[in-house]
Order: sequence, then C-alpha cells, then structure tokens
Amino acid sequence: MNTKSANTMWGGRFSAGPDAIMEAINASIGFDKRLAPQDIEGSRAHAAMLAATGIIRSEDAVAIDAGLAQVLQEIEAGAFTFSTALEDIHMNVEARLSEIIGAPAGRLHTARSRNDQVALDFRMWVRAQCDAAISGLDALIRAFLAQAEAGADWVMPGFTHLQTAQPVTWGHHMLAYVEMFARDKSRFEDARKRMNECPLGAAALAGTSFPIDRHITAQALGFDRPTANSLDTVSDRDFALEFLGAASICAMHLSRFAEELVIWSSAQFRFVRMSDRFSTGSSIMPQKRNPDAAELLRAKLGRILGATVALFTVMKGLPLTYSKDMQEDKEQVFDAADNLILGLAAMEGMVRDLTANRAALEQAASAGFSTATDLADWLVRALNLPFREAHHVTGALVKLAEDKGCDLPDLTLQDMQKIHGEITQEVYSVLGVQNSVASRTSYGGTAPDNVRAQIARWKEGL
Ligand code: ARG
Repeated sequence: MNTKSANTMWGGRFSAGPDAIMEAINASIGFDKRLAPQDIEGSRAHAAMLAATGIIRSEDAVAIDAGLAQVLQEIEAGAFTFSTALEDIHMNVEARLSEIIGAPAGRLHTARSRNDQVALDFRMWVRAQCDAAISGLDALIRAFLAQAEAGADWVMPGFTHLQTAQPVTWGHHMLAYVEMFARDKSRFEDARKRMNECPLGAAALAGTSFPIDRHITAQALGFDRPTANSLDTVSDRDFALEFLGAASICAMHLSRFAEELVIWSSAQFRFVRMSDRFSTGSSIMPQKRNPDAAELLRAKLGRILGATVALFTVMKGLPLTYSKDMQEDKEQVFDAADNLILGLAAMEGMVRDLTANRAALEQAASAGFSTATDLADWLVRALNLPFREAHHVTGALVKLAEDKGCDLPDLTLQDMQKIHGEITQEVYSVLGVQNSVASRTSYGGTAPDNVRAQIARWKEGL
C-alpha cells in the first residue's frame, strides 16, 4: 500500500497516492518536458484572455504571467526540477508557478483542461516542425538546383530496372529531385494550413460555461481561428498524422537519392565523389571512402514510417474523446521530426558538396546501347517504318553489335545495311548521346534547353 500523499491537483477525491508502478507508466514528463515552451506560451495567452474577459482579475493575470516567464527561464537555464509525481509538463509548470506566486496560480486552470492544453501544446510543436521542414526543404531544393545548373547539359545514363535505358542529362536528373522535394514542401505547407486552428477553450471535451473568448487566444498564438467542435478538438491527432505522412514521403525521397549516392560513389560507377565532410574512412582498409551519411539517410525512413504506423495504431478505434492512449502520440513524433530535420540538413550538405564526374557519366551514357530508341525513332522518321518494325530492326542491330563486341555507333554502314538495306549515313547523327538528349525536347523531357527553362522556372518560384 502506497502511503504517499494524494495528488495536489485532484487530492479532493483521493486519499492515497499512486503505486510506484502506476506512477511510472502514467508519467509523461520524461518526454513531454519538450513541450514546455509551448505549454507556457499557451498558458500566458490563456491567462491574458481570462483577464480580458473579466473571468480573473488582471492583478492575478499579471502575477501569473510574470510567474510563467520565470518558470520558462528556469527551464531554459536547466534549473528546473521535473517531477515524475507531477506526471506531465502541464502539472509540473503549474506546480512551480504556484510555488512562485502562490494562490493566484490556482486561477490559471479556469475554463481549461489538460485535454485542450495538451492538444494545443502538441499542435504548436508540430506546427513549428512543419516550418522547420519547409525551410530545410527549401535549402535542399536550392542545393539540387545548383547541381542542375552546373551540369544542365552533362550526359549520363538514364536507368529503368537499373539497366541503362536512354541517355539523360545530369540537370534533368537533379531536377527530378527538385520536383519530389517541392511536392514534399507543399505537403507540409498544406498540412500546416489545415492544422492551424486553436484547440484552447475546448476544455475537457464539452467546452466551458465561462465566457471565454477563443478568438483572442487563437489570435495571440498565431492560429487562423479556433477549432469548431470541442469533442473533435480534444480527440484529434490528425495534425500529427499528417505531419508524419508528409515526413514519411519526404524520408522516402531522401532514401532514394541516398541510395543513388551510395551506388554512384562506388568504384564500379564513379559517377560522383562525395566530399570528405560527408564520407568516412575504414579503420582497416585505407582505400575506403564510405558514404555513411547517405546510408544513414537511406535508413531513416524506417523510424519515421515506424512512428507513422505507431500513431495510426494508437488512434485506431479510439472512441471520442480523449483517452490516455493518446499520451503515446508524442515520443515517436519527436523522434521522427528530429530525424527528418537532421536528415534534410545532412542531405543538403551532401548535395552541395557533391562533385559529379562528367567524363564517367558521359562514358557510361553511351554504354549499353543507350541510343537504341533513337535509332528506332530514326527508322520511323527517315524510312517511314512502323514503330514495331523499327523496334525489330533495331533489336537485330543491337544483337549484331553485341556479337561484334562493339557499340551501335561502331557498326559500319555495310553492317547496318545487311539488317536493313535503306539505312543511310545519316543514322550516325542520332547515335551520339549528345544528339540523343538534345532531341528530347518534348515538355518535361531531358533536353538541356528544357532543363535550363525548368531551372529558370524554379528559381523564379522560390
Ligand atoms: N499527459 C497527457 C497527454 O500527454 C496530458 C493530458 C492528460 N489528460 C488527462 N485527462 N489525463 O496526453
């Protein structure tokens, strides 16, 4: 039997304190102390509103505000003792406030519950992470644009199935990631807009009988408006799920470029060299330059998607409104956000520092019969063959080159005419990789002119 005294917050109903194990499973202070700045900002806005509406006296509001400012200072200075017995950040802050200012502290929680309080704190925290993700993505997009600009017309192999498919430009490949990360950015912007409604004032679940003004607090805390349904407000974690969804897609994109970096920096490819700043050596093999940062970025989606699945699983099937299950929402979101923001910064650094090996890219671009499609297209254009037949003829030419151990441009005209008598000298003009990429001028295609136009469009938009 636990002999600890009953909780100061609800001691009226309880005669004994919780069992130690109950306290351990129940407490969230170990992680939700991270919400201290949001908790205090929300409380200050709440107290000011209570005074503005005449619900508490302004002397009390002034004392509360000064006391909360001091609590924040103590926390920022590392001088605050967090207590597990006080369960969470909300009660830790309030208990300390009451030590500092005495009786008026007891008025802060008027017309409020921890349910709307935690919904507010967490929403403000996630909102700030959206902003951080947006600016991280902005910087990353700029880094990709710089790469695209430097090598707008550099030729490299384009792959499907990781088999050489058709020549493309380096700039075009870089811009593919600009597209992806710009979509990610718009997902965070979109989620931020939707989450920007203030939960404060929903109280426990039903609203309050006090004449609060939720527009005052919403405005003070940078929200577009107060939420419209108190039941939904205290039970909603969509904002965190949307953040995680956007973060998962973004981390998936990071992992894809990370994988390309790992492949491209290998001795077999030599497409790029990663800077020393983002490579590591081996303790035993002196020649090694390992792309550790890229590998870690390739892996980060694991925990971010894990957090997403975890929160969906927490929320699934919960009846309205608040249930303590929802306290399990925070740690994973914290971890996911930390890793996403770090990952974006690391990728930005890697992309900025990246040196593409133009010669190796171009050499690889012409290998693997990469201009076979250009050849087939030429047969259609110049000889008016149906595409299917052109495809067949080209296949025979590729087979011939393969048998001779050479590339398509190395076949003699006689060789080619053995396969199709009408082929002329003109065919060689389409077999070069430069010609191939320059001809891909359809909108969204890889031609250097297209790439430059897209770069200009992006730069204008940023
Ligand atoms: N620590 C809680 C959480 O993170 C705060 C809300 C608690 N509300 C309650 N009625 N027990 O969800």
